[in-house]
Amino acid sequence: MKLWGGRFTKETNQLVFNFNASISFDQKFFKQDIEGSIAHVKMLAKQGILSDKEKEEIISGLNGIKEDIINGLLPIDPKQEDIHSFVETILIERIGEAGKKLHTGRSRNDQVALDMKLYTKDELLQIKDLLKELLSVLQTIMKENLDTYMPGFTHLQKAQPITLAHHMGAYFEMFRRDSERLTDIYKRMNYSPIGSGALAGTTYPLDREYTAELLGFDGPTLNSMDSVADRDYLIEFLSALSIIMMHLSRFCEEIIIWNTNEYQFVEIDDAYSTGSSIMPQKKNPDIAELIRGKTGRVYGSLVSLLTTMKGLPLAYNKDMQEDKELTFDAMDTVKGCLGLFTGMLSTMKFNKAAMTASAKKGFTNATDAADYLVNHGVPFRDAHGIIGQLVLYCISKDIALEDMTLKELKAISPIFEKDIYDAISLETCVDKRNTIGAPGKMAMEKVISINEEYLKHL
Ligand code: ARG
Repeated sequence: MKLWGGRFTKETNQLVFNFNASISFDQKFFKQDIEGSIAHVKMLAKQGILSDKEKEEIISGLNGIKEDIINGLLPIDPKQEDIHSFVETILIERIGEAGKKLHTGRSRNDQVALDMKLYTKDELLQIKDLLKELLSVLQTIMKENLDTYMPGFTHLQKAQPITLAHHMGAYFEMFRRDSERLTDIYKRMNYSPIGSGALAGTTYPLDREYTAELLGFDGPTLNSMDSVADRDYLIEFLSALSIIMMHLSRFCEEIIIWNTNEYQFVEIDDAYSTGSSIMPQKKNPDIAELIRGKTGRVYGSLVSLLTTMKGLPLAYNKDMQEDKELTFDAMDTVKGCLGLFTGMLSTMKFNKAAMTASAKKGFTNATDAADYLVNHGVPFRDAHGIIGQLVLYCISKDIALEDMTLKELKAISPIFEKDIYDAISLETCVDKRNTIGAPGKMAMEKVISINEEYLKHL
C-alpha cells in the first residue's frame, strides 16, 4: 500500500520504484522521524485536532516502533518507498484507525525537511565534540613544547625558527574557527519547518511555535515555501565540513613529511601505521594519507549539492532527495577522520632533538643577523646584502652563521662584535619574539591561557 495510491490505476514500474525510493538511505534518521511525529501529534492534540486518546495511542505506537527498530525486532522493509511511509504503515498496522490520523496537517515535504534538520543538528554537535577533543590534544602538546625549537617554513624551505608549541598553535586556531563556524550554522538553521505542509501551510489551527519548542528549535521558520525548499543549512554545513577536511589534510601532509626518513621529526605510533606486503622495513603513514585523500570526497558532496540546488524552482522538487546520501557520507567521513586523527596525534612521538638540530641548520637565524646590523645603524637593505654574503661564505665552508669566527665576520662587516653570537642563537631568535601571536615563550603562554579559558567554556 502506497501513501499516494488512490489516484493511480496501475502499479508502478519496478525500476521506477527503485529509482524513486529513498528507504535504503533515509532509514538513517528513523529516530528523528519518530521524534518529529511525536511532537507533531502532541501539538495536534493540544490544538484539539486529535483527541487525547488518539494522541496516547499514536505516541505509544510510535515509541514501540522506535524501540523495536533499535532492538532489531522490526526490520526496515525495503519495499516501502521511504522511512516516512514505513513508519506510518507499521503504525496503522499496529494501532489501526488512530494511526491514519498521524499525517494530519503535514506533508512529507515539511516532514523530511524536519527530519534532515534534526539529524544534522545531532551530527553537528557530535562533530563539535570531536573538534573539542582535538583542540584539547593540541593544547596539551602546546603546553609541553614551549621550548621545543623547530624550523618554521615558507615555500617548504627553512625560514625562521619557531617552536612546536607555536606550530601546533596554528592548528589550534584553525580548528577553533571550525568549531565556531559550526556554532554559527547551528544558530542559523535552528528553526523548525514542520507545519509548513507541502508548500502553503495548512488550514488546521496548528501551533507551529509549540512544535518548534518541543523539538528544541528557537522557533518556526517564517515562510512555508522556503521551509520545504531550503537546503542552505546543508550547504553551509558541507562547506564547514570541507574546511575541516582541508585543515586536517594540511596537517596530515605535514605529518607525512615530518615522518619521512629524511626529516624524522615525528614517529607515528605503531597502532596508527601500516606496513608493506613486500618491503619488510616499511612503516607507512596510511592513516594520514587516507584522511588527506578523503578530503576530496567531502568537497565533492559540497559541489554536488550546490549543483543540485542551483536550478530548482520553488518549492519542493524531488531533486532535493539527493541531499541525503552525500551529506550522510560527508558527516560519517568527517567523524571518522577527526576521531582517527586525534588518536594518531595524541600517540605520535615528537623527536625534539631532530627538530632542534634542523632548526639550527639552514640559516633560520639570518633575519635576526640582519636585524643585529640594523640595530647598529645599518639600513635594512644593506644589512640584507651583508648577511647574504655571510650565507654564501658559510655555504662554501659548510658551516652555520654562528660557526664563523669574529674575525671572519668582521672581514665582511666591521660592525659585528662578540654579542652577535647571542643575538643569533636559537633561543634568542625565538624568545625575543613576544608580540602576541609570535613564538616567544611569553607570548605563547598568554595564548595558552586564552585557549585554556576557551576550552573550559566549549
Ligand atoms: N524521500 C523524499 C525526500 O527525501 C521525501 C519527500 C517526498 N515528497 C514528495 N513530494 N515526493 O525528499
